[in-house]
Amino acid sequence: MIFDRNNEKQVVALLGAGSMGTAIVRRIGAGKKILLGDISEKALERVSEDFGHCGYDVETMVVNALHRDSVEAFAHRAAELGPVMHFIDTAGASPNQANPEHIVDLDMVGTGLAIDAFSEVMAAGGSGLIISSQAAYMYPIPNDIELQLVNTPTEGLKDVPFVKEVAMQNSGLAYMIAKRINHLQAQRAAATSWRKRRARINTISPGVIVTPLAYDEFNANGEGYQRMIDASAAGRTGTSDEIAEAAAFLLGEHARFITGTDLLIDGGVIAAIRTGEYKLGE
Ligand SMILES: NC(=O)c1ccc[n+]([C@@H]2O[C@H](COP(=O)([O-])OP(=O)(O)OC[C@H]3O[C@@H](n4cnc5c(N)ncnc54)[C@H](O)[C@@H]3O)[C@@H](O)[C@H]2O)c1
Repeated sequence: MIFDRNNEKQVVALLGAGSMGTAIVRRIGAGKKILLGDISEKALERVSEDFGHCGYDVETMVVNALHRDSVEAFAHRAAELGPVMHFIDTAGASPNQANPEHIVDLDMVGTGLAIDAFSEVMAAGGSGLIISSQAAYMYPIPNDIELQLVNTPTEGLKDVPFVKEVAMQNSGLAYMIAKRINHLQAQRAAATSWRKRRARINTISPGVIVTPLAYDEFNANGEGYQRMIDASAAGRTGTSDEIAEAAAFLLGEHARFITGTDLLIDGGVIAAIRTGEYKLGE
């Protein structure tokens, strides 16, 4: 049976076919060609079966976000499928899943590689979204260093002394710094490579969202997370669907004047930290 007679579809590419990414694509992917990339073949099989059963038109590709060639091949495949209207990057590892080097390589450099690769293929009027984290707000980077970082191309980021000396100290610092650098990477792209293509790019910084990745954090530091949740205005964890709702807005037509910005969706955790209602690590 042919479910869809439209041959010329817009393309949605997702790098990191995990919980949040697939919730976002489900929200915006109807009637579009969906290209899912992930390092895990098993995850791709499961998600593509799920999506197929729900009427979405999906193709999968094994991609390693750590390798420029792999990410470029992914972007190239997306462009072969049609006009690339949306790119979403949710490939990442959390502090309790990896050592500092891996977090810097994946959450920071890998994100930069993806932003660069898609800057070559985005359609005019298209939009991108990088999933950062509330952790980006937990370790303020001095202004002069941010200025240096925002103007550093992807391949130079690991050589910036601040990254070498501070981010590499432990996985928590690596994650906080990498996620803040995601904001800067999106700003840089919004003003330069993506602007040239007339495409927009933004970040979302989610708070505690219950996904398999978050369970790894809860298992390592359940009490700390409990205190954080209790101190937040929302008084609860969030869901991938709540992130997807905001993502659909940022990726869609109603946000056409929004680029190079971050949307913090954390149930009030950062407000609690800024006001001293909650102290990290206590
Ligand atoms: N869950 C949370 O509480 C939370 C909060 C803030 C930010 N985040 C961020 O959101 C993003 C998505 O997280 P999630 O909770 O949906 O996790 P998830 O584990 O469900 O999804 C992450 C996906 O990335 C893939 N991946 C890992 N390494 C890869 C690589 N080298 N190449 C390609 N794919 C790779 C994994 O296979 C997985 O499918 C991550 O960047 C995470 O840091 C999560």
